[in-house]
Amino acid sequence: MDRRTFCASVGTWFATEALFSPSDGLRALTAPAPQIPGRNPLRRIPQVPGGRLTLTARPTVADVGLGTVDAYTLNGSLPSPTIRLREGELAHIDLVNELPEPTILHWHGLAVPEAADGHPRLAISPSATYRYEFAVDQRPGTYWYHPHTHMRTAAQTYQGMGGFLIVEGDEEGRLGLPSGEHEIPLLLQDKRLSSTPSLEYPRMGMGPDMMLGYLGNTAFANGVAKPTLEVERTRYRLRLLNGSTVRIFDLALSNGEPLVLIGTDGGLLEAPIPQQRITLAPAERIDVVVDFSKSAPGERILLRSLPFEIPGMMTGMGGMGMGRGMRGRMGRGGGDASALPQGASMDLLELVVTDTGVVAVAPLPSRLTTLPTLGVSDGARRRSFRFDSMMMRHTINGRSFALDRVDERVPLGETEIWTFSNASVLPHPVHVHGGQFQVLSRTGGRARRMPWETGLKDTVLVLPGESVDVAVRFVFPGLFLMHCHNLEHEDGGMMMNFEVVD
Ligand code: C2O
Ligand code: CU
Repeated sequence: MDRRTFCASVGTWFATEALFSPSDGLRALTAPAPQIPGRNPLRRIPQVPGGRLTLTARPTVADVGLGTVDAYTLNGSLPSPTIRLREGELAHIDLVNELPEPTILHWHGLAVPEAADGHPRLAISPSATYRYEFAVDQRPGTYWYHPHTHMRTAAQTYQGMGGFLIVEGDEEGRLGLPSGEHEIPLLLQDKRLSSTPSLEYPRMGMGPDMMLGYLGNTAFANGVAKPTLEVERTRYRLRLLNGSTVRIFDLALSNGEPLVLIGTDGGLLEAPIPQQRITLAPAERIDVVVDFSKSAPGERILLRSLPFEIPGMMTGMGGMGMGRGMRGRMGRGGGDASALPQGASMDLLELVVTDTGVVAVAPLPSRLTTLPTLGVSDGARRRSFRFDSMMMRHTINGRSFALDRVDERVPLGETEIWTFSNASVLPHPVHVHGGQFQVLSRTGGRARRMPWETGLKDTVLVLPGESVDVAVRFVFPGLFLMHCHNLEHEDGGMMMNFEVVD
């Protein structure tokens, strides 16, 4: 009996059994979906409570659907386990390092004390343990965590470390949003694979990969290539995270149904906003509701990244002050692997609608929550940060990152306006540690605040020629980071320290 026949017969057995014991605590099962040739079932990421948790970083052989690869994992899971925390609880998380190199984890989007923020100067050696303790004083939402090791953030993240951190709360719980089987955290990434799959990350020399970022050629969702997911004819909540090092996705559904945006980096929006396309840069998250109840049984829908062009963006290496030899190597990796350019279309996830009946659910509430405001006053202090990528250097205000240099001193608890401007020909998704900010306005380029930037944010995409104003306020004193979340740019120096002073 082959695997498929075996599964089908097990399915029948369960179905028959269910007739005789309908209420013994088991969930009713439907017959397993037929396997779509060449596609891999989307992995359901294991979920763990974060109240007391040990995460062990170690080299692991992992299956990516096209074969097995050597990966870096936390607790053996690719992607890393989804940590669930409740608003107001205390998190005690131990990181145990069984990697052959230093590492440290950062809780991206959370406001936590300096000692829990994962600054690279806190990285631990092989076989050491780091204890994180922090109160989950956060809005419920879709956050994430990933390594933040000095000049190794891109490599360790690319090789598989990183996962969701989901904060839940009572107010959100009462909205009746799709949950359980109908709530799907979806980690989107691209990898550069050759015919022999491998997650090996090259040593970054002075080349296009270091300048543009390490663009891949294969889309991954939840750690597998070519994923497929069977969906019922009802609404789903998709928590989307772009965990790529540099790839920007322009998300849309192939059946023309909207992505109904309900949340951003820092939790729910005040009201749902239906969108045909949503741009998701590295480290950004969106919470969307998708309705499959009007889809026909058996219909196949693709979540894709549509092709796009970024005005003013470098399309060759001519603008980078590089010679012809360098241009010749543009876009080519090692072996038979070649990168897809930024903006290339990619199919991210296939969704197959089941042939069961429509599962009726309550309508999506028209009002979700009230957004906190940061209280921007006319006299608010302003700071400007100019992001530049030139002559093989990635800088903020002309400087590359130095581990121990404090670049700005910012008063605790005061709202300031920070301007991020992009003076280069490459996109920069800018991330600020220490909490959530509010996007106020954008000039140049897209010249407006995008619908997915109306909630609270911790990362904002700044395209060539754009300037974005954000309101920031910090609630913990100490040393924190601001950087480009193109991880090759970050590791390459596009990062700065700021000290929050009481
Ligand atoms: Cu998601 Cu400093 O990083
Ligand atoms: Cu950048």
